[in-house]
Amino acid sequence: MNLIKAIEERHSVRSYTDRKIDKKTREKLLSECEKINRESGLNIQIVFDDKEAFGGLMAHYGSFKNVQNYIALIGEKSSDLQEKVGYFGEKLVLLAQTLGLNTCWVALTYNKKKCKINMNENEKLVCVISLGYGETMGIQHKNKDINKICTFSKDDPEWFKQGVMSAMLAPTAMNQQKFKIERNDNIVKIIAGAGFYTKLDLGIVKCHFEIGAGKENFEFKN
Ligand SMILES: Cc1cc2nc3c(=O)[nH]c(=O)nc-3n(C[C@H](O)[C@H](O)[C@H](O)COP(=O)(O)O)c2cc1C
Repeated sequence: MNLIKAIEERHSVRSYTDRKIDKKTREKLLSECEKINRESGLNIQIVFDDKEAFGGLMAHYGSFKNVQNYIALIGEKSSDLQEKVGYFGEKLVLLAQTLGLNTCWVALTYNKKKCKINMNENEKLVCVISLGYGETMGIQHKNKDINKICTFSKDDPEWFKQGVMSAMLAPTAMNQQKFKIERNDNIVKIIAGAGFYTKLDLGIVKCHFEIGAGKENFEFKN
């Protein structure tokens, strides 16, 4: 499965089967995680076979069931930590999808204190991503009116349209889709709206846009 297909097929899944993630799949995830940490300076950790972080009431209210694996998104405190975590975390989400796994970003409904992670004092656990074989493949989220996200013009190139389509399929907190996309020639600006987790969402959306549009076709402007 390529990454475009992974974008199309990914939906949040909160209920998982008992099937263990096999050794080969774990190694692929761990190796990509190591590569991402080297590139980004983040300290992302993947925890396998641990039921505790999703064992409490919070997870129950968040309708999570049988979460046994998760990706802990950790990095040094800084002004761009949220966006960075969004961007690189989504790369792991899409890799997981290509490996036949299901995921869900989780900012609230888990037990932070029970996470089996190693963290330095200057670091922060931003959120986690549940990981495993889903009881279902999830369902497509409702989309905002595309005109609220981007003003298309007749001469928009195909890569831009593909980028916007992929961005619309990105997971966002509470499915808020609070972002806007602008293009000037090959310069693209994605602007985060105000509110909770919109910086995190921004990183996720940028990851999707980049895959849909093709990195070689454009540059992001901050
Ligand atoms: C940053 C972030 C935080 C999220 N936190 C939670 C959460 O705490 N609990 C939960 O059940 N879902 C959470 N979600 C999942 C969203 O509700 C979900 O991505 C959104 O409804 C879109 O659906 P989709 O992922 O199936 O496309 C979160 C998603 C993101 C991107």
